[in-house]
Amino acid sequence: RPRVLSGMQPSGNSLHLGNYLGALVNWVKTQHDYQTLFFIPDMHAITVAQDPAQLRERTRKTAAQYIAGGIDVDKSILFVQSHVPEHAQLAWVLNCITGFGEASRMTQFKDKSAKGGAEAASVGLFTYPVLMAADILLYRPQGVPVGDDQRQHVELARDLAKRFNHRFGETFTVPEAFIQKEGARIYDLQNPTAKMSKSASGPNGLINLMDDPKVTAKRIKSAVTDADTVIAHDRENKPGVTNLLEILSTLTEKPIQSLVADYEGKMYGHLKADVSEAVVARIEPIRSRTLELLDDPGELDRLLAQGAAKARGIAAETLADVYAKVGFLPPM
Ligand code: TYM
Repeated sequence: RPRVLSGMQPSGNSLHLGNYLGALVNWVKTQHDYQTLFFIPDMHAITVAQDPAQLRERTRKTAAQYIAGGIDVDKSILFVQSHVPEHAQLAWVLNCITGFGEASRMTQFKDKSAKGGAEAASVGLFTYPVLMAADILLYRPQGVPVGDDQRQHVELARDLAKRFNHRFGETFTVPEAFIQKEGARIYDLQNPTAKMSKSASGPNGLINLMDDPKVTAKRIKSAVTDADTVIAHDRENKPGVTNLLEILSTLTEKPIQSLVADYEGKMYGHLKADVSEAVVARIEPIRSRTLELLDDPGELDRLLAQGAAKARGIAAETLADVYAKVGFLPPM
């Protein structure tokens, strides 16, 4: 069966609606047709400072949210990145075939380092996309289901796969980004021209899977719209309303145009009430299931250990192939 792989950083207290609609929903769907691997990139999380105890807790919590959101541990290999040392090992080899200029062009690094100043940014943050390429290429997947903001990183993984294959012989599958049309980019509720983001959005701009439903409803009701009153899909002139329509369309699987027709003559308040209802109905069961799973951390850790063992089976094979191809002397 063809394979897919993806991951989400355990860097916040909760996944947000962008993570859910842009990625997790699509991951769940791929479980029917692919061999699926989903992991928690804790090594990516430490590219910016993390509190150790908090990171441990968030790693478990992220795993619990994957499961609560529909990842089936009998179908998918679920694991933590740092449990599979081959990720770091392959990343080193890939670092050595990545151009400095090539890495410098990654826009996420530019955005993130611009905030704290280049001096504050770590080398880990700089080389982060190379580690991500290693995450992907180790498992030779055909597809990487992600939101639109990860497109450039998957593109780098493709370039590195081709370069390695060309230099050392056929080794890696050249993966494709699987980006859904709907939900690929969910915007900040208060600043609807910026993407919803754990690190950049203020609390009122975010919808977290783990928030109290009342908080979620309130945030949607106070989402920024515009001075006009017409419910129309117009990214340029009506970004706030457009974001709400897209969220609703993704959740209800109703085409935007039919939603726009439904709301003709209605007010923003109607749309917000419906979005709020649809969002809460979808995320509330995920939140309560996550909390249940977190009641038994031992069981979660056991599932993650099982996943890591399966993942290593695949990763070790690829790494051995890579090490042999680049000319490392095999240990006796
Ligand atoms: P991360 O943790 O920032 O985001 C996880 C997933 O959520 C998607 N996403 C969004 N989709 C729609 N609208 C938004 N506002 C939004 N915000 C986030 C992201 O596109 C992503 O799919 N570098 C990755 C993690 C990673 C990874 C990998 C992914 C590490 N190694 C290997 C795939 C394969 C990241 O930071 O995603």
